[in-house]
Amino acid sequence: MNPLPEKIVCIGAGYVGGPTMAVIAERCPAVGVTVLDHDAGRIAAWNSDRLPVFEPGLAEIVGRARGRNLWFVEQRAGLAALAEADVIFISVQTPTKTEGEGAGKASDLRYVEACARFIAEHARGHTIVVEKSTMPVRAAERIQQVLAANATGATFTVLSNPEFLAEGTAIRDLLQPDRVLIGGEDAAAVGSLRSLYATWVPPERILTTGLWSAELSKLAANAFLAQRVSSINSLSALCERTGAEIGEVAAVVGTDSRIGPKFLKASVGFGGSCFRKDLLSLVYLCEHHGLPEVAAYWQQVVDLNEWQKRRVAAEVAAAAKNRRVAVLGLAFKKDTNDFRESAALQVVRSLLRSGCEVVAYDPRVEGARFASELGDATGFTVAASARQALAGVGAVAVLTEWEEFATLPWASVGVAAGATVFDGRGIVDRAAVRQAGLGLRVIGSPAG
Ligand code: UDX
Ligand code: ADP
Repeated sequence: MNPLPEKIVCIGAGYVGGPTMAVIAERCPAVGVTVLDHDAGRIAAWNSDRLPVFEPGLAEIVGRARGRNLWFVEQRAGLAALAEADVIFISVQTPTKTEGEGAGKASDLRYVEACARFIAEHARGHTIVVEKSTMPVRAAERIQQVLAANATGATFTVLSNPEFLAEGTAIRDLLQPDRVLIGGEDAAAVGSLRSLYATWVPPERILTTGLWSAELSKLAANAFLAQRVSSINSLSALCERTGAEIGEVAAVVGTDSRIGPKFLKASVGFGGSCFRKDLLSLVYLCEHHGLPEVAAYWQQVVDLNEWQKRRVAAEVAAAAKNRRVAVLGLAFKKDTNDFRESAALQVVRSLLRSGCEVVAYDPRVEGARFASELGDATGFTVAASARQALAGVGAVAVLTEWEEFATLPWASVGVAAGATVFDGRGIVDRAAVRQAGLGLRVIGSPAG
């Protein structure tokens, strides 16, 4: 058994770095964990009572470890921690490139490379550098090059340790993971990282592979999950035309033990920071390696998702006779305050373009941040409650599956007579909507 690393650092205090390090610190009280970020506001929030990430159970875990063996530190004040670290995790964003070679598909590694330069300048002795952010295959090679070119005496081993947590269930996923994956060729470094997770994860769930397999496995797992959502969403449209009911079809298909019941919930389209970005990264890799047919196969998973969002937006706009629409749910799924790539972004933009006024409500997303992401948000307002959002609207689009939207008392919420409720998640109380005399459209259910 390898000894536990004594000190670890994570660069990037976001949706992945923050919760992951909080759980490591909570489970390994003997390990000092410092989380660095160059965004001073974000660090201040991690050190306050209002954490920048909403995740069930996170505040309690942070509360137990912060100040004991978990510290959130602004990057420039963290140089000593970096010099002393045995292991440094890189957990920064890897968005889709917007310019240059591969624009629109390839992952932008500039944030990762900036971290590698910073690590090379400030690390001391032999340090294990861990890719935690999702990377394209062979990104570790690039990190090794940047580290070697900028090193001032320190030496490095690069490992891949992709994170499989899903937002909204991050703490449970971290505490009881299906698997932890460590990719690398240096047995001592792999053993050291393994010992950290072995503190609370059963050994058979800690998988080790080569570096490139680990990098590709993360992209592959997300591509498979996204493909299931696009598959069920494609059939949701067919259900609406044929009289079949997508919930029933999914339940039957999911009882086949070879298929399984998870990730078969029809929706207004998948969102989040990973699926679209990782699929596009996979498409780019396939094109780059001369596999256009494979690229086209995965591209279709993205295209179907864009189509699903477009068709919902068009239907809601058509239903809103008085051009006033309430959007319930801005987060890309329930139990998170994250709205990156959320279906609501596209649906709201499309409604505004078609001349509708939109009033939105989400229990966790900050409306002002969402509005600023929209850019031109003329016609967009944010309500303090679902009831306030619904007053006088001609159509309602339920876009996130928050529990409170499943139990709304439709007869008394003040929606205009003759309005239509469009349920993009299959969660609303159908009987309550009908009893209130409102029109109802549910994703994957035949109209009427
Ligand atoms: C995903 C992977 O699940 C996780 O393993 C990886 O580490 C990061 O990417 P995340 O994006 O946080 O996690 O959430 P996930 O639960 O996968 O949902 C992604 C999107 O798919 C959401 O918009 C969700 O609403 C949608 N979805 C999911 C469906 O529409 N139907 C489903 O049946 C499941
Ligand atoms: P993820 O969902 O992958 O965690 P986020 O965008 O939530 O992505 O978090 C990434 C974090 O990394 C942000 O808080 C950002 O400020 C931080 N970050 C990006 N580049 C650097 C860098 N070079 N040094 C320090 N922090 C960085």
